[in-house]
Order: sequence, then C-alpha cells, then structure tokens
Amino acid sequence: MSVPQLLRSEVVLEKYGKSLAGKTVLITGVSEQSIAGELAIQLAAADPKLLILSARNEPNATPIIKQIKESKPNVETRFLNMDLGDLSKIRQAVKEGLADVPRIDHAVFVAGVMACPFSKTKDGFEMQFGVNYLANFLLVKLLLPKVQAAGPESSIIITSSAVMRQGKVHFDDLGFSDGKIYEPWAAYGQSNAARTMFAKRLGEKLKSQGIRVFSIDPGSVNSGLQRHCPPGFMEMVKEWEKPGSLVDADGNKFDMQPWATQSEGAATIITGMIDSTISVVDYNGSFLSQNAVANDHMHSHVRDERNITRLWEISEEMIQEKYTW
Ligand SMILES: NC(=O)c1ccc[n+]([C@@H]2O[C@H](COP(=O)([O-])OP(=O)(O)OC[C@H]3O[C@@H](n4cnc5c(N)ncnc54)[C@H](OP(=O)(O)O)[C@@H]3O)[C@@H](O)[C@H]2O)c1
Repeated sequence: MSVPQLLRSEVVLEKYGKSLAGKTVLITGVSEQSIAGELAIQLAAADPKLLILSARNEPNATPIIKQIKESKPNVETRFLNMDLGDLSKIRQAVKEGLADVPRIDHAVFVAGVMACPFSKTKDGFEMQFGVNYLANFLLVKLLLPKVQAAGPESSIIITSSAVMRQGKVHFDDLGFSDGKIYEPWAAYGQSNAARTMFAKRLGEKLKSQGIRVFSIDPGSVNSGLQRHCPPGFMEMVKEWEKPGSLVDADGNKFDMQPWATQSEGAATIITGMIDSTISVVDYNGSFLSQNAVANDHMHSHVRDERNITRLWEISEEMIQEKYTW
C-alpha cells in the first residue's frame, strides 16, 4: 500500500490510467476554478468514452467542456444540469438527463460549499449538510444500478475534507436551531463527518460487489471554495499552519496538510477511483488523504457504527427513500 505523499494527477494516471479507457465517468461540481474541473481535464487525457459533467449552471462547465473538446475530440462530453440544493432537481436530472446511460463506471461527487452564511436547501435542510452530504446520499442511491451495471472495479468517490477531523453530526440539532446558533465551520465539519461516515458504511455494503468506495480529502487547494471565507481568513490559516495547532474531535493534535495545486488536489480522487494497490477487499469505505489510506484521521464519533447507522436512518427519512442492495 502507498505511503502518504502529494502527487500530481499526471503521475497517478501514468501508473493506473489505462483502466479508464472507454469508461463512463460522472463528476459533480465542475467549473473553471474547481477541483472537479481539473479532474475532468485530467481524466480526459486517459481516453474515457464519456465524461458526464455536472453543475447547477451550464456556463460553469462550458470552459471545461470546450477545453476537452479541443484537446481530446475523441472523448464524448455531456453537461448534466443539477442543483444539489433541491432533491427534486436531482431526481429530475437522473431521470431525464441519464435515462440513456445504462452504466457509469466511476461516479465522483466533488461539488460542495464551505462555511457559507446560514441558508437552507429547497427541502429545508441546512445548506452545507444538504449540498455536501444529503444530495450525495440521494444521488448515490439513484445512480447505484448504473454503477452496479459497470461491475467490479467501478467506483463511487465522495469528496470530504480534513475538516472532517473536527466535525461531528449534531444528531439532536442538525440545522443549528434553524440557524439561531449557526456556526459556519461547525456546519462544514458536520457535513464532512457525514460524508465520511456515509462512505464508510457504503463501502462495507458494496465490498462484496467489488465496487470501490472511498471518501477523499483532496488537500488544501486554492479554488472557488474560499468564496465565503471571512476577511482575515488567511491569517487564521497561518495559525492553522503552525505544527500541532489543530485539534480533532477527540482532542488529538494534528498538522494541516501542505497547500496543493489543482492537479495534486484531483490526484487523491483519481487514486480512489483506480489505484488497484488500495484494494476493495482490504480498504473499501476508507478515508484517503495524500493518495493513501488515512483511516487514522477518523475520530471516534465518525468511526462509531451506532452513529453511522443513525445517520443512515435519518438520511433515508430526509430523502424519503430507502436503499435496496
Ligand atoms: N479546495 C480545498 O482546499 C478543499 C479542501 C478539502 C475539501 N474540499 C472539498 O472539495 C470539493 C470541491 O471543492 P473545490 O475546492 O473545487 O471548490 P469550488 O471551486 O467552490 O467547487 C465546488 C463546486 O461545487 C458547486 N456547487 C456548490 N453548491 C452547489 C449546488 N447547490 N448544486 C450544484 N453544484 C454546487 C460549485 O458551483 P457554483 O459555482 O454554482 O456554486 C462549484 O462548481 C468540495 O466538496 C470541498 O468540500 C476542498
């Protein structure tokens, strides 16, 4: 198994990228500034058959699609319009936009929002929980038959964050008392804890089918994500960069990862998708950081099977659908 290290996407693709030829890949969160946009461009170099690129506004994805068309005209692209803050739009996108796509080899959920002011999704859930986590919970359920049709070594990749290490799911008050006691970073932490807990259980469930499932910390990447950060955010980050200044939800100190380029940010996602040395049998459902398994980053709340079950049951109630395997 690999050791943690920052790698460029090109390096990971050179090792394992052959397996992507002819495959269908769906990616959420595509825009010019985003890690998902970089991921799409990187994956195009490996000659997939079809890249389904999703965003809530088509102009977000247009420059990425244009670049892929110019550099890799053999790779088909399709734009999928989907607002992850509205469960009905997710259902509609899958039903109408993917009806003719029988199999998806890699479903990669990268879209997200960080530390935004309090707001709610169309369905009334706190925005970061709704977009970063619950949307993926529904999307995976809807797309599962298509991923299962692709068979073993297909993948479901859920982007998470190192902030997962500080996050807990506030089971008794997921919506921060309807915003009255809202703390943007606690809400971002909650959404990332939920993402990693979801991937852990999903990975266990899909292990016997050989479907790869991982949650991923892409690392600290300059992107559109910082748009909601308050003035003085970079000073705060300077404090975080001091060794041992961060503390996880169990009270253990940890260091901030070094800043990564967009290519390095997309690399751990690609590792999750196709690095065969991180096997389904041994590691499905793991949290990956710096291109390696990093389950030691999961604190006790995130690892707790009772919490994971509770989250799953609440999520099924929220989307008003139950998973079938
Ligand atoms: N960058 C980092 O340092 C870092 C570190 C750890 C984890 N992550 C995670 O990595 C993922 C990608 O982040 P990024 O750095 O690429 O950020 P980004 O540049 O802001 O990209 C996020 C994308 O998600 C989309 N999105 C947000 N809300 C949406 C919604 N309701 N429906 C559909 N799409 C929506 C955004 O589209 P709009 O423009 O329409 O909002 C944007 O294209 C996130 O999940 C983030 O939590 C990032």
